[in-house]
Amino acid sequence: MARILVTGGAGYIGAHVCRALAARGDQPVAFDNLSSGHQHAVQWGPLVTGDIRSPAALDQAFQEYKPDAVMHFAASIEVGEGQQKPQQYWDNNVGGLISLLGAMGRAGVKPIVFSSSCAVYGAPSSIPIRESETRAPVSVYGQTKHAAELLLADMALNDDARFVALRYFNAAGASPDGEIGEEHEPETHLIPNALKVAAGLGPDRLKLFGSDYDTRDGTCLRDYIHVVDLAAAHLAALDRVLAGPSQLFCNVGTGQGATVLEVLQAAERITGARIPYDIHPRRPGDPAVLLAETSLAKAQLGFQPRFSSIDQILTDAWNFHARKWRV
Ligand code: UFG
Repeated sequence: MARILVTGGAGYIGAHVCRALAARGDQPVAFDNLSSGHQHAVQWGPLVTGDIRSPAALDQAFQEYKPDAVMHFAASIEVGEGQQKPQQYWDNNVGGLISLLGAMGRAGVKPIVFSSSCAVYGAPSSIPIRESETRAPVSVYGQTKHAAELLLADMALNDDARFVALRYFNAAGASPDGEIGEEHEPETHLIPNALKVAAGLGPDRLKLFGSDYDTRDGTCLRDYIHVVDLAAAHLAALDRVLAGPSQLFCNVGTGQGATVLEVLQAAERITGARIPYDIHPRRPGDPAVLLAETSLAKAQLGFQPRFSSIDQILTDAWNFHARKWRV
């Protein structure tokens, strides 16, 4: 049994990981400022309401709960917003990590699993994307995740580091029982927006950003990974950092992909509703194709996705949203 401080534990992925930790007998302690997380998503352990940029709040949490490791999800995550508020993104995503590593140092806690992103690669030409691919972010958000990775690597210069940085591709889906799922406000992600149209909760038509990409149907292709699979990858990463020294940067995806149109077709199949759309200009910063090379995750973490078919993702996402929206 391990006790884990889960920053961002009231958020979408953090809450799923807390649930998975509790299910195997570990003790999650959620640490979240509730700026975008939800108190009702914290169901598997205590919630400490605090900000990762507050050394006092962190020190108190470490003293009270004496965690064995940290899983660090708390971050600003909207690509578009980051372009408008670069300083806020650097402050929260990079300043927040510096603050957290400081508190971990004071408490003598080393193991950390860090939420990174495929956004560190920018718009790579070589597909599927290997971890060794040049990091060339095309957004402020991606820059902050890249900077955080550099910091983790540098922390290892003088010390036995114990980190795994997971580079997520497109997290999607919800818990199969409909209990927890994606609840961003405002929502910019494709799947929840498509389901909102399907549910008739407005807007009437989905905005489809770009149909002239170099893909099989002209719309962007993404590697959607079910959040339950993503949580399993985190548990494997946690076991690794708890076991000993580790410096690993690792993709978490499926290596399969779906285009925007394929996602919409699947959403129509699953919901039984029509999802009308209008073609809009390309969204700035959207690469045509993001697809993970997955062999490192398999070799180093023993991770393989189980629930990440696009139909399973949409079935679980729809189950969650239909329950939440009472449709
Ligand atoms: N899209 C639409 N209409 C919408 C929403 C999205 O057409 O209403 C399109 C986007 O243009 C994109 C695709 O659907 O082509 C997927 O968009 P999402 O917003 O769902 O996801 P992203 O691929 O943009 O975002 C993901 C992660 C980010 C990460 C980013 C890196 O969620 O954290 O990849 O590019 F930074």
